[in-house]
Amino acid sequence: MDEGLFGTAGLDAEERATLLSARRAEAGARRLLGAPAEANFNLATAENVLLYERLREVITDFRRFSLEDTKYPGRAKPGNLYTLNARAAAFLSAEYGLGEPLTADQVMGIGGVSAALESLTFALCKPGDTVIAPAPCWQGFEWCFTYRAGARLERFPVSSQPGDPFHLTLDDVKRGCERARGTAKVLVLTNPDNPLGVNYAPELLEEIYGWVLGETGMHVVSDEIYFNSQTAGAPPFKGALALKAYQRNHDRVHVVWGFAKDFGLSGFRAGFVVTRAAAVMKAVIDRRMWFLSPFTAQPIFALSNVLGRDEGRFAHELMREYRRALTEQRRATAGALDAQSIVYYPHNHAALFFWLDLRRYLRAGGEKELNARLEANGIFLLPGQTLACPEPGWFRLCYTCESAGVIVAAVEHLGNVLQNIG
Ligand SMILES: Cc1ncc(COP(=O)(O)O)c(C=O)c1O
Repeated sequence: MDEGLFGTAGLDAEERATLLSARRAEAGARRLLGAPAEANFNLATAENVLLYERLREVITDFRRFSLEDTKYPGRAKPGNLYTLNARAAAFLSAEYGLGEPLTADQVMGIGGVSAALESLTFALCKPGDTVIAPAPCWQGFEWCFTYRAGARLERFPVSSQPGDPFHLTLDDVKRGCERARGTAKVLVLTNPDNPLGVNYAPELLEEIYGWVLGETGMHVVSDEIYFNSQTAGAPPFKGALALKAYQRNHDRVHVVWGFAKDFGLSGFRAGFVVTRAAAVMKAVIDRRMWFLSPFTAQPIFALSNVLGRDEGRFAHELMREYRRALTEQRRATAGALDAQSIVYYPHNHAALFFWLDLRRYLRAGGEKELNARLEANGIFLLPGQTLACPEPGWFRLCYTCESAGVIVAAVEHLGNVLQNIG
């Protein structure tokens, strides 16, 4: 790609894809679908456009935005951030099916799940401590844990089993811990997983949490930003707070969640630290990252309305509708991939991704060359190496960042491009 022409030097892969897809929209995206060779298809950015029409009215209604709302977000009752935290606590407790509901002081809103992860790192780690995470994993962990908080990130590979080349086991976690040579302080699990799109089996989670909490001094941070992104027939999702192992130890398990994925509101930069460990929540608050990664007044106002509408029923119903829409979008995308004989990891029944196996298209220049070729033809996927995938040739496709029609057209175009590689 001609960086000079596009002016995208310095952007990361997802930012560049977003920019190019915006350009395509500007140029009359729908018209260009008839001439895909000239189109740019952003399938890289983890966004979700499926709920916008249902949310539009409530998130654009600022008529009741008051003088109080323009001030510093109020964390204490009856402040606006307090109200949102309380509503998020009620929403999450119901969606997770928790016997003992969360309270407002166990949920803390902050500017994005990235900031929630960073806040927890400041609270749990000192510089030089290690956060371990199974690979492949979200590339942003690097900046959340290491850039400002000064922790180290150790990504460990997962096991390969017949029918599942990316199968996390307790032994993998133990090996990850060993690689950190005594400095492992936090295990991060993304459930449902990005990029694999799997819900981790509850039995596996019990085993891993049981070992971490019983045999080590580590904390577990469960990144559940995709937890409501579930399709029909997905194996059961179990949140960390609903695990039996967690009931025996509330002090070392913490969850992060936000509005970017399940509600498709990534631009609101809204995330939450969720923990019943009072000392950890106190450290999160005392370290003030919530003030330095601010969650601003308008998103707080709008999201409070989303969660408060019809005494919470609107948001719960929206999540049910979302699952239906996501199921349909996944079905359409899988159909298009199958029609093009594009191979993918088949266990992706949650989150927003297909994990494409393009290994047979690798040539001498490897994954980089293949990615350059796709980009030159207007296809933007996230190369597995960006996500620390140990083996080259895997690419993440987000199937919710555009409407089904655009995704299907993009997959058809991808199929043509791959066929030309032979
Ligand atoms: C697993 C995971 N955690 C966190 C984030 C970042 O969330 P936010 O945009 O709310 O900072 C992402 C975004 O893609 C993600 O995939």
